[in-house]
Amino acid sequence: MLKLSLSFFLLLFVSANSFAEDNIAVKIVKEKCQFCHGLEGEASSVIYPRLAGQHKNYIIKQLQDFRSGQRQSTEMNDMAKDLTDEQITALADYFNSKPALSHKVRNKELAAVGQYIFHQGNEWSDIPACTNCHGEKGEGTDQLPRLAGQHKRYISSQLQGFSERKRTNDNAIMHSIASRLTEMEIQAVSLYVSGLK
Ligand code: HEC
Ligand code: HEC
Repeated sequence: MLKLSLSFFLLLFVSANSFAEDNIAVKIVKEKCQFCHGLEGEASSVIYPRLAGQHKNYIIKQLQDFRSGQRQSTEMNDMAKDLTDEQITALADYFNSKPALSHKVRNKELAAVGQYIFHQGNEWSDIPACTNCHGEKGEGTDQLPRLAGQHKRYISSQLQGFSERKRTNDNAIMHSIASRLTEMEIQAVSLYVSGLK
């Protein structure tokens, strides 16, 4: 009986905790993030990245990098400036728990080029398959970003950013890969991943 009520209280405590965390997140999202990223991380426009279904530790790292200025962004440096570690964790849990979305891809021929790059890389220009790190379906891992279903405009802008070292927080991997992608390969792979589920 004692054991039973103990676990009952533990359950209450744990759910009260995640409930409180969710409350912290919802309040900040409504006040600050919704305008661009949407209430559920679906993004209000293709200009802004989708956050729904993105991995927790990846979101935490990006928000910390925006906060410290390690990753530069006109919009995000200001947004992250005053966030505490606790708020960052709550926001990461919140967006991670929302269902990921995906795009309908119309230009099938261009997407087929992207599919090849994504799964095979390009051995003639020394580009590894993206699946090596981002997963067979672009689902990512706990540390590596999910790419599946992201807006193609955002993916291509990040690849250009890595290539020109405008996105400054990568650990050299994405710079060396992106700088060897041609413009066509960037457009093709971005289109392809936008349609992945
Ligand atoms: C005025 C629009 C705007 C608002 C408001 C905004 N963001 Fe952003 N966010 C952006 C843009 C633009 C980017 C992409 C920056 C870049 O190009 O590197 C971004 C990127 C991000 C990323 C990185 C995504 C990735 O895949 O790497 C995270 C995480 C993020 N925002 C979280 C938030 C949170 C949490 C809030 C609220 C506290 C917020 N944003 C508010 C515009 C906004
Ligand atoms: C060796 C591992 C590795 C390979 C291979 C790789 N990536 Fe990445 N990628 C990363 C890492 C690590 C990050 C996160 C960098 C950071 O933390 O800021 C990343 C980030 C990205 C981002 C930014 C996502 C976001 O939400 O902002 C895009 C886009 C991307 N990679 C596309 C690609 C494409 C396309 C390929 C194949 C041509 C590829 N990557 C191959 C490791 C890899």
